[in-house]
Amino acid sequence: MEKHLESNLSTEQLQDELRNEHSAFYFATNVAFDIGYLKVNINKSDKENPSELSLEIERLYVVIEFYGKGVGPLLMEHAKTITKQKDIARIWLGVWEKNARAIHFYKKHGFIEFGIHDFLLGVDVQTDILMQLIHI
Ligand SMILES: CC(C)(COP(=O)(O)OP(=O)(O)OC[C@H]1O[C@@H](n2cnc3c(N)ncnc32)[C@H](O)[C@@H]1OP(=O)(O)O)[C@@H](O)C(=O)NCCC(=O)NCCS
Repeated sequence: MEKHLESNLSTEQLQDELRNEHSAFYFATNVAFDIGYLKVNINKSDKENPSELSLEIERLYVVIEFYGKGVGPLLMEHAKTITKQKDIARIWLGVWEKNARAIHFYKKHGFIEFGIHDFLLGVDVQTDILMQLIHI
């Protein structure tokens, strides 16, 4: 995990991500502090994403005390709103195969599985399930 945090979530890496014109970041706040975070990539093509017109939910996190209180659905609705505004017909994401809560959440919001993708967490190979929502 330390290796993963160092290589994928270091200050330098996050600064690079903030400069990427294809990415956008949103925060849910409850007046005093942030309680949720959404990062999306718009029309960024890579091998998982052959379609040009798509939005990737790369990160969607809610502070644990706020699980089940509507923050996750609010950020999901925001992602859907962006796609409508930009006339994008597909949202996709990768979710760790053992993350049952998130998989249930995405299914509840209309996502279906379309593949798998292995990724390295430090030195461990992990599997993500790829999910998508078409014609939002
Ligand atoms: C995923 C996440 C954003 C969803 O937000 P949330 O506020 O928890 O979402 P909700 O409570 O609306 O939905 C969660 C659903 O999972 C269900 N659930 C809870 N634990 C579960 C489990 N172990 N297995 C299956 N479903 C589960 C809940 O009952 C709820 O379903 P319901 O509305 O049908 O009852 C939030 O849980 C989170 O930040 N998780 C940690 C970060 C993460 O995993 N992000 C996704 C990375 S791809």
